[in-house]
Amino acid sequence: MKFNPILVLIIIDFLMNFFKTLPISAFCGFAFLMLCIFFNACSSNQSSEQNKLSGQSLFEENCTICHGSDGKLMAAGAPDLTKSILSPEATLSAIELGSPQKGMPAYGKRLGKEELEKLRDYVLNFRKNQ
Ligand code: HEC
Repeated sequence: MKFNPILVLIIIDFLMNFFKTLPISAFCGFAFLMLCIFFNACSSNQSSEQNKLSGQSLFEENCTICHGSDGKLMAAGAPDLTKSILSPEATLSAIELGSPQKGMPAYGKRLGKEELEKLRDYVLNFRKNQ
């Protein structure tokens, strides 16, 4: 969001006039509280957005050749991920340990736990979008 500096000055001036009647400490407390709420809202939105993005980019980098970007490609004998009935735990270990004889690579050797969990969450989301 872009701020117009003149508008900000007008708002600050208005607030200062409004709070002149109150003790200055009350104004500071109020301002601090508003700042906390503002930054908290910003940062939590941003991090959930980032998590989604990296799960998606990990999937696109590693998995789309066989599973497709929507999980339905079924190339090289891969199952349709939108129809998977595995539990979250079993999905995580399917990604971590793979199924080398059937063509699913084991990603536990290449990726960290956090990345594997992001991939699991991303894969589980295919079912909800059905
Ligand atoms: C080379 C092709 C290939 C790639 C790349 C691949 N998979 Fe697979 N995947 C398969 C095959 C084949 C199976 C079926 C394995 C089996 O039947 O045991 C499978 C099974 C799965 C399953 C189990 C689904 C179920 O319901 O049984 C999950 C989850 C999965 N893959 C996720 C992923 C993720 C996440 C990636 C990327 C990190 C990935 N796969 C990359 C081929 C692939």
